[in-house]
Parts: sequence; C-alpha cells; structure tokens
Amino acid sequence: MAVNRTLVICKPDAVERGQVGEIIGRFERKGLQLVAAELRTLGPDVLALHYAEHVGKDFYDDLVAFMGRGPVLVAVVEGPHDTWSVVRQMLGATDPMKAAPGTIRGDLGTEVTENLVHGSDSAESARREVAIFFPGLQ
Ligand code: RTP
Ligand code: MG
Repeated sequence: MAVNRTLVICKPDAVERGQVGEIIGRFERKGLQLVAAELRTLGPDVLALHYAEHVGKDFYDDLVAFMGRGPVLVAVVEGPHDTWSVVRQMLGATDPMKAAPGTIRGDLGTEVTENLVHGSDSAESARREVAIFFPGLQ
C-alpha cells in the first residue's frame, strides 16, 4: 500500500455523540478522500493487534473496554503524500485538554481516553493498520 493512505477510527464516543460526520467532513474539506469505511464493533483480539504497542500498559484495559463498548467507524483516508502526518496534525494532541483549538480533539473533546478519533502514527503504522482492518484493499 502506498504511504499516501492512513487508517482513521472514529471511536465509540464519536459515534455515540453524533460527531462522525463532523470528523470525516473535516478530512473531506481538507481534500483527503475516503477509500474505505465501515461501522464495526471491535473485539479484544483485533484491539490487541491494533494497539499492540500498548498491551500491558496501565491504561490498556480501560482502552479496550472503551474501544469495544460500541460501534466505531473504521476508515482509510487517502491524500497526495504523508497522509498519516496530515491526519495526525488535524487530530491534535492525545489529551484533548492540551490539543490546540482548530484540531478535532481540541475542538470536540475533554477526556484523554475518550478522544474521539485514532490516526496511524507513522507510514509503517499506516501500512500495518490498514492491513489489519482492510486486508483486501487494493
Ligand atoms: P491513537 O493511537 O488512538 O490515535 O492515540 P494517540 O496515538 O494520540 O495516543 P496513544 O499513545 O497511541 O494512546 C492510544 C489511546 O489510548 C488512550 N490513552 N489513555 N489514560 C491514559 O493515560 C491514556 N493514554 C492513552 C487514548 O484513547 C489514546 O488515544
Ligand atoms: Mg497511537
């Protein structure tokens, strides 16, 4: 997969709060394109693959309980280059209370776990994560 694609997950809080359109709309207004998207409820096994670097950390159990409590929108977003980095800039800092105004987390959230949206954190993570959720994507 080319590095111009990245994985986005609108987390359960975003779905519950009706903010999926707002979040995906921001990516679309930026000029990025959706190439795959599906509502799914994620179980512990796929979450352990996706969040492999966090397995065993003190916040991991809370993270899995949160991410699995309801449907998420899993999506692949495409842009001209370095899309993972563009998306991460648009997300803002992990803690929404520290995220800059104008970012998704800065504008829409207040809680560090329930921070609305995931974006891959490198080109390699983007490749790995897209393959986990959309293994058949060309
Ligand atoms: P993400 O992977 O979801 O895009 O978020 P991120 O890169 O900004 O942050 P990361 O360090 O990868 O953490 C993954 C998710 O775990 C939750 N978290 N909770 N309570 C805590 O200290 C804590 N730290 C992280 C957040 O939901 C974070 O997005
Ligand atoms: Mg991360």
